[in-house]
Amino acid sequence: MCIKNTIRITMKKVDVILGLQWGDEGKGKVVDVLTPRYEVVARFQGGPNAGHTLEFNGEKYILRSIPSGIFQGGKPNIIGNGVVLDAILFRGEAEDLAKSGHDLTKRLFISKKAHLILPTHRILDAAYEAAKGSAKIGTTGKGIGPTYTDKISRNGMRVGDLLRPDFKEVYEQAKARHEQILRSLNFEYDITELEKQWFDAVEYLKQFRIIDSEYFINNALAEDRSVLAEGAQGTLLDVDFGSYPFVTSSNTVCAGVCTGLGVAPRRIGEVYGIFKAYCTRVGSGPFPTELFDETGAELRRVGHEFGAVTGRERRCGWLDLVALKYSIMINGVTQLIMMKSDVMNDFETIRVATAYEINGERTEEFPFGVSDDIKPIYVDFEGWKCDLRNCRTYDEFPEAFKRYIEFIEQETGVPVKIVSVGPDRDETIVR
Ligand code: GDP
Ligand code: IMO
Ligand code: MG
Repeated sequence: MCIKNTIRITMKKVDVILGLQWGDEGKGKVVDVLTPRYEVVARFQGGPNAGHTLEFNGEKYILRSIPSGIFQGGKPNIIGNGVVLDAILFRGEAEDLAKSGHDLTKRLFISKKAHLILPTHRILDAAYEAAKGSAKIGTTGKGIGPTYTDKISRNGMRVGDLLRPDFKEVYEQAKARHEQILRSLNFEYDITELEKQWFDAVEYLKQFRIIDSEYFINNALAEDRSVLAEGAQGTLLDVDFGSYPFVTSSNTVCAGVCTGLGVAPRRIGEVYGIFKAYCTRVGSGPFPTELFDETGAELRRVGHEFGAVTGRERRCGWLDLVALKYSIMINGVTQLIMMKSDVMNDFETIRVATAYEINGERTEEFPFGVSDDIKPIYVDFEGWKCDLRNCRTYDEFPEAFKRYIEFIEQETGVPVKIVSVGPDRDETIVR
């Protein structure tokens, strides 16, 4: 009895990396950097709405559905049940990687329970956005919302269904249902070519290992192998806790690891929360610290703040500690990872929002209706005015920059364990 308990207590846990802002914090880079510490890497939610950038050895890769642990040795990378998969985009991604010498067929595993994005899901995404007019979400147009809608309403198709003899019939039923909606929205479309590509791509999918990923991961933990879960999007885009309705359609928060991989809550270990030293957002929705002036344009220009996949301009603003503390609370973050501070190397003054004023009242809580009339209350910091990209240890950082980090640690109560000072794998300072 005693021995069993000891085994249970020491059993390996899943560590989690997730974004604390509105996505694009640099998750791909950090997963790649941390993968050498792990034996399995797994994506738990989202789909090709993600664009995760990795840079090393002078090469740059953008991953959308494939986990960012794929470049560090032959370890298993898993697309979990919580992910929605577009076979066409997945094929493009996998073929590009194969061309550059990264064959994934032996090390990429796909959950039978991951849901398939159908061609009509993409069309529905466009049709719903068009119907919303000026209130549109600004989605990535990848069919994410309609696919999760079908999942929750129990009408979805899963990767495991590819092996069913009646796969085509089930597809036709789903398509007919979607076409009825599209007709009611008066939305013009032609999916002939897309559909052909999709059927070819689902055949292509079959060469990968299609598995019961919940068993794979729990067996790995039982065998004392370490697992890293990779989030997509960010906490403020979470369907429950983000700035609803301007959110994505999945749970991007830590709880999503449990449902998206089949891992029990007590098996969650470290939670690495990633944030930029400032804030960005792409798509519509409230953004309290957004800058519409030259400083915002400077952040965008120096930080290359354009969507990794869509090329859309990212909106830029100051770091928002009200939102960051909210995200830390929801996720139970144990370690912070700060990205892209180098973008502000030349700034005279750097501002951080520590509270909001809403209708004349001060609050440090992220409100239910995050609206545009929130006035952030700022604390100002002297800029460090030197090139952080030359620093390779924490001690080499200028005092002004250390003060910025220490302030964030004091306010949040969580240590900043990794500081990224450039896009390359090597431009990473671990404390
Ligand atoms: P993700 O979606 O969270 O993986 O982030 P994205 O890849 O969409 O966006 C992050 C961008 O910032 C990418 O272009 C990265 O190459 C880049 N990047 C990551 N870390 C740093 C950093 O510390 N400094 C700079 N200047 N760029 C970074
Ligand atoms: P990564 O993983 C930034 C945003 C979209 C839109 C909203 C809903 O690279 O950080 P969706 O297509 O999901 O229905 O769009 O969410 N969005 C992202 N923004 N980074 C992402 O992913 C995003 N994925 C979705 O711009 O506002
Ligand atoms: Mg991104």
